Amino acid sequence: MDAVRITNLVKKYGLVTAVDGLSLGVAAGTMFGFLGPNGSGKSTTIGCLTGLLDPTAGQIEILGHRFDADSADLKRRMGVMPETLGLFEPLRAHEFLAFVGRMYGLDEGTVRTRVTELLDALELTDSSKTLADYSTGMRKRVAFAAAVIHSPDVLFLDEPFESIDPAGVALMKEWLNRYVKQGRTVFLTSHVLETVERLCQEVAIIATPGKLVWQGDITTFGREGAIVYDGQEFDALEPLFLHLTGERHVDLKWL
Ligand SMILES: Nc1ncnc2c1ncn2[C@@H]1O[C@H](COP(=O)(O)OP(=O)(O)OP(=O)(O)O)[C@@H](O)[C@H]1O
Ligand SMILES: [Mg+2]
Repeated sequence: MDAVRITNLVKKYGLVTAVDGLSLGVAAGTMFGFLGPNGSGKSTTIGCLTGLLDPTAGQIEILGHRFDADSADLKRRMGVMPETLGLFEPLRAHEFLAFVGRMYGLDEGTVRTRVTELLDALELTDSSKTLADYSTGMRKRVAFAAAVIHSPDVLFLDEPFESIDPAGVALMKEWLNRYVKQGRTVFLTSHVLETVERLCQEVAIIATPGKLVWQGDITTFGREGAIVYDGQEFDALEPLFLHLTGERHVDLKWL
């Protein structure tokens, strides 16, 4: 079964078309990397897939069910770490996570246990500060905790690793690897292609405005070897990405 299926997704912001007829499917149990240059429509797509944005056109299916703004039951089975994090800044970390846990319908005992476990594991036990006073990486850790607290079946993570320290990233990767081994699905964006190459089984690469240019299995990199595209062999994700999205060499004489 596809955990995520997108058909002809279009999202316009006024006159700007951010996603232009995107179609793709992600099988359940996949660590999926959704890649593309800045401004290519990744966050917009994640917004549409999680109900944060209203698509202009197209269909979305999550876990085999049609998804739209009213899909409350389905939303309880989904977790999201949006690009903008979605934190409620006046709260402290434990207050915010407890609020999110209750919103997802967890009982009080479960909320208490999970908030404590997440804050301990992510080293966010300093409760003297509100989220507004947290560092960038600490805020990101809280947003990650909020995405997973209800143990969803599909997890959407928009640049989850960027600005998290190496120990934090290692822990998150360990959790995510175990999570997909249980048959659940991660849909993540990242610009750190080395991380994506090591972590993800499959990637989609989009170009501006939100058009699929390549989707495939990347587990062959480093094992059987290269992926062939356009008659060229690519032995790593970065050269393939640059080939598909356009590498630029610009010489600034004054720099
Ligand atoms: N609220 C908005 N209003 C108008 N245009 C927007 C809005 N949000 C995004 N856009 C435009 O939509 C396009 C896609 O943006 P989006 O944030 O989805 O890209 P992205 O692939 O996530 O980029 P990045 O890698 O920089 O995060 C861009 O041209 C952007 O300027
Ligand atoms: Mg983005």
